Parts: sequence; structure tokens; C-alpha cells
Amino acid sequence: MMPVRSIEIAGSTVRVFPSASLACVAAADFITRTIQEATEARGRAVLGLATGHTPLPVYKRLVALHRAGEVSFRDVSTYNLDEYYPIAPTDLQSYRTYMDRHLFDHLDIPPNRTHLFDGTVPEAFVADYAATFDRWIAAEGGLDLQLLGIGRNGHIGFNEPSDVSVHEALRLPSRLMALHPITLADAAADFGDEGLVPRRALTIGVAPILAARSILVLAFGPKKAEILAQALRGPMTAEVPASLLQSARARVTWLVDEAAAARLG
Ligand code: F6R
Repeated sequence: MMPVRSIEIAGSTVRVFPSASLACVAAADFITRTIQEATEARGRAVLGLATGHTPLPVYKRLVALHRAGEVSFRDVSTYNLDEYYPIAPTDLQSYRTYMDRHLFDHLDIPPNRTHLFDGTVPEAFVADYAATFDRWIAAEGGLDLQLLGIGRNGHIGFNEPSDVSVHEALRLPSRLMALHPITLADAAADFGDEGLVPRRALTIGVAPILAARSILVLAFGPKKAEILAQALRGPMTAEVPASLLQSARARVTWLVDEAAAARLG
């Protein structure tokens, strides 16, 4: 088996695994350690979580570790990155359904500590509601860990590419976003047809993501190779939101597979 190698890119450390499944084992171990250390230090752990295809094996592994008695989520609070808008939490395509099905239903986490944006909030209140999420996270003492995937267009959460300055991009709060055409196309399979994908989503902002005490980014497969190279080797720009992670590089751990690392050199 090929060993795990580390690449250093302008101060960012990227760990390249022979397969996505091995990287996911490492990610689950990292999350478990974070939970144990934070609960020992502060009596609780606050996790920022992602949905999508990438973290599914991580959640499977966390469930297995929990069942084996290796980790408890009794003292954990979670905040998910995003939710479609509008959508009902009970909708099969909602991220609430995804999280319950793949993770929360199998853990000892108190249900009132799993936070996802509610995609039924009336439009007149949605901006205030999104800002409230940032205050909740701050009131919990901030995120111990933010888990991230990357969109093919470089989005993190649903912070989509834009032409704002880097200064403004680094300060983007949680808010309602119009989804980018690549995001809509990539979500088409989940909804059965692109026309059925909600056009907007609530997302945790760039600023609260970057404020996490530690950030774990996963990128797997050849479709992520180009954007990963831009995020790590390119300039920081709001056109590639994942490049903004360079501003927090000392707190960011990149776990990728060989296919995604193909253009890192
Ligand atoms: C999901 C999220 C998105 C995904 C990204 C990659 O909560 O915030 O940014 O991480 O779209 O999606 P997958 O993992 O399906 O390739």
C-alpha cells in the first residue's frame, strides 16, 4: 500500500492518502480526538459539520466508533454548514434528513444540540435568522472543529464564488445565498432533476468558518483536482472561496486522496 505523504504548500499542510476511505478513517479519528480533548478541557465540544457525498464514510466510521464505546457525543453540540431554502426539515432531500439518517440517529447526541438552519423560516425573517446562528455559535464559545468539503467551483459551505474583495470575503457572515450553476448541476442527481433543486440555500458564512479553532478539509476524486490546486496554489480570491482558507492555514488540515492531489505537484 502507498504510504500517506505530506505536501507543504505555502505554509499549508496537505496529507495525501492512497484512498478516500483511509483519509476518512483519519478524519473520524481527528474528530474523535477533538471531542475528547474539548470535553476534557471545557466540558463540551462544538462541531461544525458538512453534508454532501464526501463526509459519508466519516460519519459511518464515527457511528462505528460510538457503537464500539470509543466516543460519546453526550456533551457535543453541532452546527451544520448549510440547508436548502426553502425546504421542509422532513423533506427527504433536506440536509436535516441527511444528518439524522447518516449520523445523529445513531449517536447519543441530545437532539436539541444538533443545529441546522430551518429552511421554512419566512423570507422576511431569514436574514435575521441567519445572523442569529452566528451568535449561537459564538455563545457556545466558538467551533472546536469545522469539517469541510469543497464544491467543484471552490465553494465552502454554500459560500459561492463572487467578485467581492478578499477583505470583504473574509468577513462574510451566515446568510441566504443564490446557488451557483455548478452547484445546481451537482445537486441534480440528489433531487432527480436540476429543475427540482431549490435555487437558494442558507449557509454559515466565511467568517464563522474561519474562526473555528481547527478546520478539517476533505477533497476526493479527480473532479476535485483542479479546484484543490487553485485553492492551495492560487491567490486568495473570493472567486475561489476555498482559497480563503489560506488566511487560517496554521489551523487547517487538508486530507485528500491521490486523485484529488493530482495537480498539486
Ligand atoms: C455541504 C457543503 C458543500 C459540500 C460541497 C462538496 O454541507 O457545505 O460545500 O461540502 O459541495 O460536496 P460533495 O462532498 O458532495 O462533493
